[in-house]
Parts: sequence; structure tokens; C-alpha cells
Amino acid sequence: MYLSHNVSLVTTHVLQNMKNKGEKIAMLTAYDYSMAKILDESNIDIILVGDSASNVMAGYKTTLPITLNEMIYHASSVCRAVKRSFVVVDLPFGTYQGNSKEALNSAIRIMKESGANAVKMEGGREILESVERIISAGIPVMGHLGLMPQSINKFGTYIVRAKEDEEAQRLREDALLLQEKGCFSIVLEKIPAALATEVTQSLRIPTIGIGAGSGTDGQVLVLHDMLGISNDFSPRFLRRYNNLYDGIKNSVQAYINDVKDINFPNENEQYY
Ligand code: KIV
Repeated sequence: MYLSHNVSLVTTHVLQNMKNKGEKIAMLTAYDYSMAKILDESNIDIILVGDSASNVMAGYKTTLPITLNEMIYHASSVCRAVKRSFVVVDLPFGTYQGNSKEALNSAIRIMKESGANAVKMEGGREILESVERIISAGIPVMGHLGLMPQSINKFGTYIVRAKEDEEAQRLREDALLLQEKGCFSIVLEKIPAALATEVTQSLRIPTIGIGAGSGTDGQVLVLHDMLGISNDFSPRFLRRYNNLYDGIKNSVQAYINDVKDINFPNENEQYY
């Protein structure tokens, strides 16, 4: 695929320059063509095809069940819409943790079959071999520390992580290790703002926060949460920019009423 010359593409270099210049990075999730087209045409910097698709799109309680094939389906739908933004895809649970060869194969499948720009992986020291192998194949890796939803069965809860010294220290060290191995960026999820700021200042590469305060180099939210499509998830860090749950429901109810009352279609909405 040859890239068009009249759009300024977001690349890992562009993202690094943004950190160097102190320009914040805006990232949102998308899982389908139509939403990705709107985000790309709104000039979002990064689109994350998150494994939150497992919750938001498939209705599972956790991110664990989503498969590599399902992630590739979502990612390729997103990539067909995107002209400018940088697309990152989550490696789903069970496709990279145990074995670095399998991790590389999973990452290669995502890159080849979807056309994405990078993969994201949850974890620190325990996944370094996989991170290194994937990066050595020329695939950019975004790390993910703090609350790691794929480890929900180990944590037992979605509360704020790294409040205690020991876990905070481990996170600081893991962030440096991921940077050393060549990650181009790290997501910091649901950790104290002061710790996220400290880690951000200690790293050369950009951090992207979710529930990590304003001191990170960028922010990410799940699109369906910030648009108010999902109305049953209200963590403290979430800002809702719309209430599309009510907007869509009201539109659907108006349509149902029009059909039942024979108000739709009218004379202008039919063929002669
Ligand atoms: O899957 C996802 O949407 C994520 C973000 C919450 C960072 O990993």
C-alpha cells in the first residue's frame, strides 16, 4: 500500500515529537469502520482498537474472551476508514503472555491482516521477551501498566492500582524496562496522578493516561463511555461529552411511533 502525500500521517516519530514539544496526545477507542471514519476526520492522533471491544461490542463481562480473529476483524474495519490517525491494536489475552514466538505470530497476524500501525500489550517485566521479539520484527509496541484488565482474575477488582509503595516502585521499574526494550509509548491506567506524572517525567517516550490525572503526555477514553452510549459505567475519571444513549433511544422511539401511526414514509419518501 502506498501512502497518500496530501495527508500528514501520525507516526511514532510524530508522537515522540509531540512529547518533546509538550503537545498533548489525544487517543480514543474505535472498533468499526463508521466510528473510525468520524474519529479520523476529527483529527484524533491515535485510534486504539482496544480489547474493550470484548465488553462494549460483544457484551462480555471482561476483556478475556475476545479472540485474535475477532480483534483482527475489528482492526481491519477500523483501518479501512483511517487516512491519517495512528492505529494501535490490543493483543488479546492468551496470545502473547506465555511464549514470545506465539506473541510475534499474533502481532504479525494483526499487522498483516488489518493494516494497523502498532500493537499494545499489558504487562511489565513478565512480558519483556515478547515485547523485544515483536519490536525486533519492526512492529511498534505500546506498553500498558497500572490497572491491566486482562489480569482482573489476579487483581480481583478494578480499583486504583499502585497506591502502595511496593506496587508503585514495581510500576516505575517496569515503565523504564519497557522503554529500554523499545516501546514507543506506554498507557498508564487508573493509578494515582502524582505517580503518573512522576513516571511521565522519568521517561523519554510518551505516556497516555486513563484515570491517571493530567500529568501524562496524552489521554485515552473508551469512545462508547465518553459519548454516553454506555450508561452503566461511571468511574470518577470518565467525562461524558454526550448522552447518546438517550439520543439514540429517543430517535428509535420516534421512528417506532411514526411507523405505527403511518407517519413514515410520507409522500416525499416514496417512489412514483
Ligand atoms: O481496551 C481498551 O480500551 C484499553 C484502554 C482502556 C486503554 O486498553
